[in-house]
Amino acid sequence: MAVYLTGDTHRDFSRFQEDVFPEQAELQKTDVMIICGDFGGVWDGSPEEAELLDWLDARPFTTLFISGNHENFTLLSSCPRERWRGGMTRRVRPSVRLLERGQMFDFDGKRFFTMGGASSRDIPILERADPLFSVRRKWHEYRKNVYWIRGETWWPEEMPSESEYRTALDTLDRARWSVDYIVTHCAPTSVQNLFDLKEAQSTGSYLVNRLTDFLEEVSRKCTFDCWFFGHYHGNYVIEDRYILLYDRIVRLAP
Ligand SMILES: [Fe+2]
Repeated sequence: MAVYLTGDTHRDFSRFQEDVFPEQAELQKTDVMIICGDFGGVWDGSPEEAELLDWLDARPFTTLFISGNHENFTLLSSCPRERWRGGMTRRVRPSVRLLERGQMFDFDGKRFFTMGGASSRDIPILERADPLFSVRRKWHEYRKNVYWIRGETWWPEEMPSESEYRTALDTLDRARWSVDYIVTHCAPTSVQNLFDLKEAQSTGSYLVNRLTDFLEEVSRKCTFDCWFFGHYHGNYVIEDRYILLYDRIVRLAP
């Protein structure tokens, strides 16, 4: 089987068109394409979205994704929960699945540990129940600020829950802290810190948080070959084995 990985799609699946990704002509449903978060294909539940997901499901390969910080977690949690290839998933379509957090999957005899999620709480979050909602929204629009609305464009589930952290630790304990590949949306703190800190301060999106620190602990304790992640919208190899993916598609050596 073939294992491909790519970065944030944000609902734009044009990279999976036949002319952009011609390798798919040789692929089957046993082959997988893993998106490192910010899938964005489960967002508004519209008929257009259903068509898009059907198109994805009609690709010759299986599409898998971990969660990023731009997903509709309410809709995702309504998808059937199923154990598949060794770990828990949400079945969006027969061949489109969310790989849950803290899980271990077996692809081609290799062990993949998955831990989606990232923080975007530096962006103002508005609540419709707030009596000043309209005023605040107008103010942000006037200032051309990016803002999100809780439960509509932002969900607190973008970060793992206590139970997901516990599940992750149990999974790694069972694996004796030895895996082949790690797939996350954000990076361990020390890897994230290698990015331009000035830029991080201005965008505010690369701040250290509980998840990056948790991943830091994993990176120090766990034996692994390669760590794939998204979130930072670039394609880089960092210190040989941390692979940041955005629009590139890479294939693991058979
Ligand atoms: Fe993203």
